[in-house]
Amino acid sequence: MKHTITLIPGDGIGPEVAVAVKKIIAAAGVEITWEEMSARGDIDRRGDELAQSAVVASIRKNGVALKGPLATAVAMGPPSINVGLRKALDLYANVRPVKNLKGVSSRYYDVDMVLIRENTEDLYAGLEHEVVPGVVESLKIITERASTRIARFAFEYARKWNRKKIHGIHKANIMKMSDGLFLTSIRKVAAQYPDIEYIEMIIDNACMQMVLNPHQFDMLLLTNLYGDIMSDLAAGLVGGLGVVPSGNIGENVAIFEAVHGTAPDIAGKGIANPTALLMSAIMMLEYLDEVAASQQIEAALHQVYREGKSLTRDVGGAATTAEFTDAVMGALAAKV
Ligand code: NAI
Repeated sequence: MKHTITLIPGDGIGPEVAVAVKKIIAAAGVEITWEEMSARGDIDRRGDELAQSAVVASIRKNGVALKGPLATAVAMGPPSINVGLRKALDLYANVRPVKNLKGVSSRYYDVDMVLIRENTEDLYAGLEHEVVPGVVESLKIITERASTRIARFAFEYARKWNRKKIHGIHKANIMKMSDGLFLTSIRKVAAQYPDIEYIEMIIDNACMQMVLNPHQFDMLLLTNLYGDIMSDLAAGLVGGLGVVPSGNIGENVAIFEAVHGTAPDIAGKGIANPTALLMSAIMMLEYLDEVAASQQIEAALHQVYREGKSLTRDVGGAATTAEFTDAVMGALAAKV
């Protein structure tokens, strides 16, 4: 089947890794017309303007996008475009599978978990203001609707992918109303899925447990901020952001993206590792029901890592982006 997909290569190393991923997907025989939103002008809009922009229109029309990293200013400037896109398209579920890639040295092995993060509210609602000079207020918004929706998504995901256990992560001992509402909403949904074990854990303990014994986790369900932090923590246990994918899923629309940044220190040098964007593309192909191609690409990627001869510098090798890409395509040729 032919697909039309919006591609946002992004900034910094984004275009370099996007080229690599496009080549590998084409080599797997999946027919994709990429609608490329390359000019930052396509997306450099904010709020209502972003919602009306060409890039959002393209993603809405195509239903699926693949996205590289976008630079965001810290502690100043306009709001993040990443967050803006999720809001404009109501991509309420952030899905972050965390699994070892054989050949990448890491703190732990045989880790296999999925973090599901609510993506639209919490402290990311962006409602901050200065009350008086020297005092600012940032609002944490939690609704029953969004909490129930993400809980249902997580339990349905568990059933679909044969996962057995979900940890609901919270700080409801302190934020009794907001995190309390998140928890009570999950409990109502959990009661409808007796086949999936549901356990609650306070966020600070969960962080410690994750570092001490990540194997106890199968799936985690979190609000936006805790999910953002814990998913990076979890990625660190298996080798870092360069080897984990992510998907932002809404009703009939999804953006798959690498979770690392624009890597300005190595941009333009031809040494960026396309693995994270490739793994996100593998998730995207699964979402598009291109299961055979996604499995073939995954197997080729694993083979290149197992062999360890053509890895990029960030994972201990010496290969360029192009050499790594060629190695994956070579491994793929034997499988297609
Ligand atoms: P970063 O992820 O860009 O870089 C951290 C370190 O990891 C650097 O040493 C970099 O060279 C390395 N690295 C990252 N991706 C790599 C890859 N694919 N291959 C090889 N090495 C890689 O994080 P940093 O420096 O905090 O952020 C830089 C910019 O990226 C900022 O403007 C930030 O806002 C943006 N950013 C965007 C994200 C997104 O669009 N989803 C996510 C995180 C950051």
